Parts: sequence; C-alpha cells; structure tokens
Amino acid sequence: MKALILSGGTGTRLRPLTYSNAKQLLPLANKPILFYIIEKIVRVGITEIGIIVGDTHEEVKKIVGSGERWGVDITYIYQEKSLGLAHAVGIAEKFLGDSDFIMLLGDNVFNMELDELITNFNSRKANSTILLYKVDNPSQFGVAVVDAGSIIKLVEKPKEFISDLIITGIYVFDNSIFKAIENIAPSPRGELEITDAIQKQLEMGGRVTYGLVQGWWKDTGKLEDMLEANMLILDEMEYKCVNYGDSSSSITGKVRVGENVIIKDSIVQGPVDIEQDTIIEGSCIGPYTSIGRGARIKDCEIDNCIILNDVHLESINKRISKSLIGKKVSIQGGVRNRRFLNSFFVGDNSQIYL
Ligand code: TTP
Repeated sequence: MKALILSGGTGTRLRPLTYSNAKQLLPLANKPILFYIIEKIVRVGITEIGIIVGDTHEEVKKIVGSGERWGVDITYIYQEKSLGLAHAVGIAEKFLGDSDFIMLLGDNVFNMELDELITNFNSRKANSTILLYKVDNPSQFGVAVVDAGSIIKLVEKPKEFISDLIITGIYVFDNSIFKAIENIAPSPRGELEITDAIQKQLEMGGRVTYGLVQGWWKDTGKLEDMLEANMLILDEMEYKCVNYGDSSSSITGKVRVGENVIIKDSIVQGPVDIEQDTIIEGSCIGPYTSIGRGARIKDCEIDNCIILNDVHLESINKRISKSLIGKKVSIQGGVRNRRFLNSFFVGDNSQIYL
C-alpha cells in the first residue's frame, strides 16, 4: 500500500497566515501538522508517500524533504490549480499505479492509528473505506448514510437530516477510484469532489466501507480549529513538568522547554510547549500555549495561543488569548490592565503598537 497526502489548496480561511506559510506546515505544539500525518503513515509500515503540493511547494519540499528522516520515500506531485480533492487524486495516478493507497488531507489531525481502517479495507475487500466521525450538527459537512457496515450514499451538506456521520479527510482506495474520477463533473464550486467520486464508485457497483474515529479528529482549516487541535495535542504531551528557570519562576503541569530557554520572574502553567532560544520574563504563560523558537516575551499574560518563531511580545496591557501569531511579529503595549482579553490572528512580519 502507498500513501497520498493532499498538501495543495489555497488555505483562504487561514489568511493572513497562509499568505506566507503553507497551512499544512503550521505548528501544533511546535511540530508541523504534516509531520503528525507522516508519522502515522510510517507507523503502519508504508514506505512510499506521495504529497500533492501547490503554490507552497517550495516550502513544503524544504521542510519535509525526501522522507529520509522517517526512512520513507517521498514523491512530490505538483497540482497547478486547486481543482478539488478528486482532481488531486487523479493527477497522482502515475505515482499510485495499481497500488491500493491511503489518502489523507494534509490539514487533518487525529489521535487514532490507521491500522484498523486499513484492515477494514483489506478484510472487507472494499473499493473504498472512509473514516467517519459522529457529530451533533452534520448539516455543514459531507455525510454518509450507512447500512450493515457499508456506506450506501454520500451527500454533501444535506438540507434535511439523513445521518450524523460526517466524512473526515482519511480514506483508503483501490485503483477503481480513478475510473470514478474520470466520470464525474466539477461541482457548482468548480471542483472535482472526492465525495462525488466515491458516490460514483457506489453507482458503478463498488463496495464502500467505513471506520469510525476513535478519540478525536480535527480539520485545522480555521483559526478556532487550529487552537483546539493545539490544545488537544498539548493535552496528550507525555512530558512532565520540568524543573526549570530561576527560583523566581513557578512552572507547573506538563511543560516542555527547549534548549537555551530563559524563564525569569514568571509563572508557566502547563500544558505549554516552549521552543529553543526563547526568553520569558515577568510573564504568565499557559495553559494551552505553544511558543516557537527565538521568542522574546516580557510582561505579558498568555493562554490558549499558538505563537510562531521569532515573535516579540512586550508589555501588552490585556491578557492574550485564543491567538495565532505569525513569524517575526512584534506586538508592544503600554500600561497593564488585565480586565479584558486581546485576541490576535496576525500574519508574519507584522508590527503592532497598542
Ligand atoms: P480544503 O481545506 O478543503 O481547501 P483549502 O486548503 O484550499 O482551504 P480553504 O478552503 O480555506 O481555501 O483542503 C483540504 C486539504 O486538501 C488541504 O490540505 C489542501 C488540500 N487540497 C489539495 O491538495 N488540492 C486541492 O485542489 C484542494 C481543494 C485541497
């Protein structure tokens, strides 16, 4: 079996950060989202991985590389325009050949392993197996109607309730998916939809089975989902509180501190992940916060944030919460007043004076 990760797309919902970052490389607990996905694939023993790349291809290739660090071969497949998930699968046909493959969206994170889904696909001799997630409000998603362990129908954003099982971004396919893709037309939004391709497989007599998410699953396409995914991953960190900083600081809960980090006169309440070369002074950090490399944080209160590399935050007069702060951002404030919250979604290289 091979694997295909979709890491093209435009990431409009995560602008302005996606003007200068591939969204699949944004960090959760200081590790790029794509790395979590690759590690899952590696753990089921797949060694040939194709990655669909778009406008951000140079950045993705540079950060992910040849796959050597995981002992796998990575092939990059360039998608000139974001013409849909099924289009992305279609252009990977040469790479995939006759092999069965697992297909994952490059912005999805989840805490289950992939073995069971692959076993389901193999043992049920399916043409497709889809990972489904039970939700309370399915109306904004593609949903699957199931019967006796198989999917009988897929509907995009149903107006009336037909199922509470939504389609995640994890699928296993055999090569009959290519024939199905050839036989679908673009949707009203102009994309070749993978849901339509699987529906076509069903109409062509294919067998489509499913697995259910165990634990949690998140599509990180929007700010709030990124923050929630960061929270979930930080919560599962295995590292315990470090004995770190000078005696003027208090560090409690699960905290990881990288090399060459200085924490002075501060309170750090885990879960928190702090990358190397960062200085924290006179601040309260956490819970649920990850801070990238080379940050300088002075006189601030921060919780529930993702902070990228080389950020400077100083004397911000309100607590910073639920924020995603791009690389090399500088935010400097004045007098402290903790009565309200600040929430930032700031692209790279911005400078803000409050
Ligand atoms: P989406 O989140 O559906 O699309 P997007 O990345 O363009 O984001 P937005 O809607 O905010 O503009 O894509 C899911 C994943 O699939 C993501 O990792 C990008 C990838 N993708 C491709 O590789 N090719 C495509 O043609 C599309 C539409 C998405």
